Amino acid sequence: DWEMGDYISEAVATIKAQVGSDEVILGLSGGVDSSVAAALIHRAIGNQLTCVFVDHGLLRLNEGQMVMEMFANNLGVKVIHVQAEEQFMGKLAGVSDPEQKRKIIGREFVEVFQAESAKIENAKWLAQGTIYPDVIESAGKGKKGAHTIKSHHNVGGLPDDMHLKLLEPLRELFKDEVRELGIALGLPKEMVYRHPFPGPGLAVRILGEVKQDFAHLLQRADAIFIEELRNTIDPSTGKSWYDLTSQAFAVFLPVKSVGVMGDGRTYEYVVALRAVQTLDFMTAHWAHLPHELLGKVSNRIINEVRGINRVVYDISGKPPATIEWE
Ligand code: XMP
Repeated sequence: DWEMGDYISEAVATIKAQVGSDEVILGLSGGVDSSVAAALIHRAIGNQLTCVFVDHGLLRLNEGQMVMEMFANNLGVKVIHVQAEEQFMGKLAGVSDPEQKRKIIGREFVEVFQAESAKIENAKWLAQGTIYPDVIESAGKGKKGAHTIKSHHNVGGLPDDMHLKLLEPLRELFKDEVRELGIALGLPKEMVYRHPFPGPGLAVRILGEVKQDFAHLLQRADAIFIEELRNTIDPSTGKSWYDLTSQAFAVFLPVKSVGVMGDGRTYEYVVALRAVQTLDFMTAHWAHLPHELLGKVSNRIINEVRGINRVVYDISGKPPATIEWE
């Protein structure tokens, strides 16, 4: 709308004045905040922006393709697509402790990002999709300290020794404003209204040791769940179940159970479905999804994803259960 148009021209002018003719690097995650920041900065300085997209092999199905399509092909943004699946899997081999897994991914991420950034000549700025609630949250960090339940890893938090100045054009915006801005900049609605996705990705949705095969099974099961949530409209609100839930995903359980298929006995892995409704993600209710929807998702996963023969639904609230299983 008109006001948003004004906001964009002002933000563009500010970024141009700040950056001048310097080069800027941005870590693209596929999430809403870094995507909107990339689109805004690109609008301001075009090819002076280079995005680095690190694919650790623990992203949603076809995420890499989607990011490249949207940014490189449609918007003409310079994006370096780093395929680091083997590297991350190597480091994660044999590790089953959730906090350990998070730390390894965080550390590895910084390493890969730094190595790529070092190749970009004259880079003076590191752009981040920091939004207002992040600023508030990190201001209060000192007090929480010992009570941290999960060490959150994000694209942010890179070490100071990169000697880059920070460019954070979304610092004053709330999430709903970031989404509006994204739409005004031409990002697709499905991307701007996406559920949040954790930095460590599927590593916290594959219980225990992460294996490449498990990740591939989980990606396919998760994609089926999300597709059915998007396609099922609740008649009383006219909204899809994707829009009626705050976060929904599949979890891979590395235990085998017995099943039958045709004349044969199967002995395969289990997938749990998780869908929650929440305003702040600090507390959450499990979503009362229609049984027909759950049944369809279960049938499709068992029929289409060889290696999974049982699907269960998580009916735990937060607290005491967290939203993610690790
Ligand atoms: P929990 O599982 O603690 O999750 O109830 C609350 C919200 O935070 C997300 N989450 C993370 N996000 N890095 C992130 O960027 C992390 O390590 C991480 N752990 C949990 C989770 O997806 C939910 O939205």
